[in-house]
Amino acid sequence: MKSSTLALAAQLLSSVAAFNLVQRENPRVLNLDIQRRHVINPVARDRLRRRQKTVQETLDNLETLYFANASLGTPEQKLRLHIDTGSSDLWANAASSQLCSSRGSQCADSGTYDANSSSTYEFVNSAFNISYVDGSGAAGDYAKDTLHFGGQEIKGMQFGIGYVSSSPEGILGIGYTINEVQVNRAGLKAYPNLPQLLADNGNINTNAYSLWLNDLDASTGSILFGGVDTEKYTGQLSKLPIIREQGVYAEFIIALTSMGMNGKAGSLFNNDTVPVLLDSGSSLMYLPDNLVRSLYSQFSAQYDSTQGAAFVDCGLADQNGSLDFSFSGVTISVPMNELVIVAGYQRGKPVCILGIGPAGDSTCVLGDTFLRSAYVVYDLENNQIALAQTNFNATKTSIQEIQSGSNGVPDASGVANAVSSVAVGTGGARNGGPQISATGAGAQSTGAAMPVATPHPWLGAGAVVAGAGLLMGFNGL
Ligand SMILES: *[C@@H]1O[C@H](CO)[C@@H](O)[C@H](O)[C@H]1NC(C)=O
Ligand SMILES: *[C@@H]1O[C@H](CO)[C@@H](O)[C@H](O)[C@H]1NC(C)=O
Ligand SMILES: *[C@@H]1O[C@H](CO)[C@@H](O)[C@H](O)[C@H]1NC(C)=O
Ligand SMILES: *[C@@H]1O[C@H](CO)[C@@H](O)[C@H](O)[C@H]1NC(C)=O
Ligand SMILES: *[C@@H]1O[C@H](CO)[C@@H](O)[C@H](O)[C@H]1NC(C)=O
Ligand SMILES: *[C@@H]1O[C@H](CO)[C@@H](O)[C@H](O)[C@H]1NC(C)=O
Repeated sequence: MKSSTLALAAQLLSSVAAFNLVQRENPRVLNLDIQRRHVINPVARDRLRRRQKTVQETLDNLETLYFANASLGTPEQKLRLHIDTGSSDLWANAASSQLCSSRGSQCADSGTYDANSSSTYEFVNSAFNISYVDGSGAAGDYAKDTLHFGGQEIKGMQFGIGYVSSSPEGILGIGYTINEVQVNRAGLKAYPNLPQLLADNGNINTNAYSLWLNDLDASTGSILFGGVDTEKYTGQLSKLPIIREQGVYAEFIIALTSMGMNGKAGSLFNNDTVPVLLDSGSSLMYLPDNLVRSLYSQFSAQYDSTQGAAFVDCGLADQNGSLDFSFSGVTISVPMNELVIVAGYQRGKPVCILGIGPAGDSTCVLGDTFLRSAYVVYDLENNQIALAQTNFNATKTSIQEIQSGSNGVPDASGVANAVSSVAVGTGGARNGGPQISATGAGAQSTGAAMPVATPHPWLGAGAVVAGAGLLMGFNGL
């Protein structure tokens, strides 16, 4: 963020908004470092974890690569929570659950919660029940307790306790409250989830936060509740409307209006509108099948349907070039090296997959392989997303508060004629896909089938190879 840009931004904004750029000595924000964890098979994880309500089997996830430290209760019980913009409840496994109390339990990394060990525990109801398409999930009680998080103490935070669980992770869902389990499954009223409670309590001015995931090669990023760090992106933030589903703002869906490659705007498709879900809980991005087929062909990626992944030469990461995503004229470029993920090793050599999968009948998802290249402000009060190209490895920091009101996001301007409505089908289903203008073989084919699985010698019998072993490692979740 250069000062000249800031000055220009200030001129463009109204006087009220310009005031937003004044930095207080102790801004009302909560800044929290987040850490990326190496997920060995992101595809399998994505597939296992998507919420039943929104997505089909092959693409799910609630799992995220990014986690933050927090604790619940008095005295504090430490948790490692995955930051998830695609869900809305905080939940942790009960220490007493069969999953977590068994020998060699997988829960140790994420931590667990024991109601009986906390003097500030309060029971709320027994409506907590989150489930995933593959049948895994967690169910139990909702409770309230004190959350310690980002140096703050937040009393009376409602969260779920998984007494019965088949998922070892603790999740911090920070989406719209209407998407809470107690609302969309039990039909109860919404409760203030973390960002809403921070706003209600005055810890932050408004229900809005920024997420900076940083480079694939960097292990930390940050989440800033109630603020924007103008050093973490280049250019200026552009505000785009969130798309409603059946008239309701429920998820972070925006309209992708064109895509290009290597700086050639619109070279893949133009003048089409694809609703895309911004989901930090998804490792990969999932795009329309015809587009994905064309990209696989251009990158010589070999799709393996049994793995649900497209394998590429790891050298692709060293190529210059980018995939350029445009949202009503706002473009985020994802460099090639952010799209190639080392999924495992075979005889000491890396095995790589492309961070792009086919969306099938589900809503397209822009997960971490996209989000790392963007600085994203989620403004739940105004139902807007503000986007800018990320500044990888930024070391400086300049935190500005987000104010309440319609112009509260600092250094952000609206996008003229931004697409604000697209049909998003129930259950996340969508029809068709954009017309692909790229020429790779098969790009114009009409069938919906993905490229046929290509046999990989090292994925063969017995899966004894290290790469395959690693790739299969999470199937037992
Ligand atoms: C979380 O806590 C662990 C253990 O104290 C520490 O190693 C790690 O760096 C912390 N992570 C973050 C993101 O603060
Ligand atoms: C607390 O401990 C009691 C006695 O061991 C047990 O019956 C009860 O289920 C526990 N409560 C919770 C919320 O774990
Ligand atoms: C949670 O919901 C699932 C799916 O509706 C149901 O099968 C399961 O019995 C529920 N679990 C509990 C503990 O209520
Ligand atoms: C960011 O830092 C990491 C770790 O030092 C480095 O590997 C990577 O190349 C850097 N990325 C950029 C875009 O400079
Ligand atoms: C895209 O839409 C604009 C405005 O509606 C129109 O002027 C233009 O010709 C369209 N381009 C293509 C390639 O369809
Ligand atoms: C990528 O671009 C850089 C700088 O423009 C150039 O030095 C390098 O040779 C290019 N690499 C490839 C593989 O094209």
